[in-house]
Amino acid sequence: MKWWRDAVIYQVYPRSFADSDGDGIGDLPGVVGRLDHLAALGVDAVWLSPFYPSPQADAGYDVADYRDVDPIFGRLSDADKLITEAHARGLRVIVDLVPNHTSAQHVWFQAALAAAPGSRERDRYVFRDGKADGGPPNSWQSVFGGPAWSQLPDGQWYLHLFDTGQPDLNWDNPEVRAEFEDILRFWLDRGVDGFRVDVAHGLVKQADLADWHLPMIPLTTEGTEGGARPPMWDQDGVHEIYRRWRKILDSYPGERILVAEAWVQPAERLAAYIRPDEMHQAFNFEYLEAAWTAAAQRSVIERSLAASAAVGAPTTWVLSNHDVIRHASRLGLPVGTPRPNGIGAGDPQPDAGLGLRRARAATLLMLALPGSAYLYQGEELGLPEHTTLPDESRQDPTWFRTNGASVGRDGCRVPIPWEADAPSYGFGPSDRSWLPQPPVFAELALDRQVGVPGSTYELYVAALRLRRETGLGHGELSWVDVPGEVVAFRTADLLVLTNFGATPAQLPEGAEVVLASGPVAGREVPTDVTVWARLS
Ligand code: NOJ
Repeated sequence: MKWWRDAVIYQVYPRSFADSDGDGIGDLPGVVGRLDHLAALGVDAVWLSPFYPSPQADAGYDVADYRDVDPIFGRLSDADKLITEAHARGLRVIVDLVPNHTSAQHVWFQAALAAAPGSRERDRYVFRDGKADGGPPNSWQSVFGGPAWSQLPDGQWYLHLFDTGQPDLNWDNPEVRAEFEDILRFWLDRGVDGFRVDVAHGLVKQADLADWHLPMIPLTTEGTEGGARPPMWDQDGVHEIYRRWRKILDSYPGERILVAEAWVQPAERLAAYIRPDEMHQAFNFEYLEAAWTAAAQRSVIERSLAASAAVGAPTTWVLSNHDVIRHASRLGLPVGTPRPNGIGAGDPQPDAGLGLRRARAATLLMLALPGSAYLYQGEELGLPEHTTLPDESRQDPTWFRTNGASVGRDGCRVPIPWEADAPSYGFGPSDRSWLPQPPVFAELALDRQVGVPGSTYELYVAALRLRRETGLGHGELSWVDVPGEVVAFRTADLLVLTNFGATPAQLPEGAEVVLASGPVAGREVPTDVTVWARLS
């Protein structure tokens, strides 16, 4: 059974999901304690962001040991328990794999620092001599801001596309390849159902490490279509790696999956990652970035479906994750605003009411689309971004490396609220929370929404139940012409319509609404509302 083709996969960001010991940082026992919530919500799988030993220079995306659990998150036995308990509830488990870079504290990098230039230890990373003028080997700037190279006392430089604490591995080195194949096996043997592959488009660099003109490397290849491909992203050599990995996964029972985090455009280039002998899925960031207009939404849906169909893979859909502004806030910014990297107290603030209304409509549209959908923890509560975090609480390396020019991603990573009247809104047993929670989290806490008709939580539950009952997600989609600025299509016996226009849209005669993201009267669908309807 290819469960992943239409799966709804819920992202848990462990440090902000549930804290079992009161230290203010979420942990794996906390996740285990809340698995019933995920089962009740009705998702198919959980993807956990990294929980491995790490100095936390980038919230765990700097891994010091790929085969253990960081003490702040628990122990290896807690990971085993999580896998068992999730499986007992019919939930699959996907873990995060970070192969582009290790932590600077990884034994390999420590050995490289201690070894001489030209040594076997240094060859596992990207070490180079500087230019004759004493400058770094090339002009690359880190995704987080500042130079992408750091110099050692012996004069050599090492590459880090992200933070200085995240040295890039050298994927031309067979030892690196063998090590990661072994890491895959380690977690497959423990029973995981798949891997989300971090920066999947970055492992292989253009051999000449040619200069690149952009001042701060965007993670995405967007805007480079037709022009030169950035020398650090989407090089053809990455595909061979994933073909090897696919063989390993396929040698295990059950359908274990690989999911690419590859910020690659256009959609056809991204589709290369999900050819039949490579990964199973790739995140559809073009969808996440699409403007809130009927034309933009319809066109990205058409493009995405066509590109993935061409390689026989399912399309995926995503609106929020731990790297972007939560969609309940993003959609409250003026339409067409380029997505900012975080919002600070001094920035224009999103319209919270409008944002939530559109977020609910966007989610209901997304959950009706054929393919697999990703949810980010807390979106089922309609959580907004924390847009007024005090600067002294910020932890994202982007904030530090840009000297505050980019506020970064902390605002979407705030610990989530479970109980309105408990300390830390039920995040943990104490009032500690590694990032401060905004007061609006009280009214949005889970216990304020369960059983409340019209709450965002109940909307998600109803949508996921209906999705399962009606077979949404694995059907075909056929567009329907309805007057107005709308996206309308039929799928799995339902008519789905989102109204982006300023005036109400009319459902066809005989249509009966079965679920709506906001109040509807009769056949009239108000602005920024999605409905699922049955046609008699
Ligand atoms: C993508 C991850 O989602 C992000 O959080 C991280 O900072 C970078 N990759 C670097 O690992």
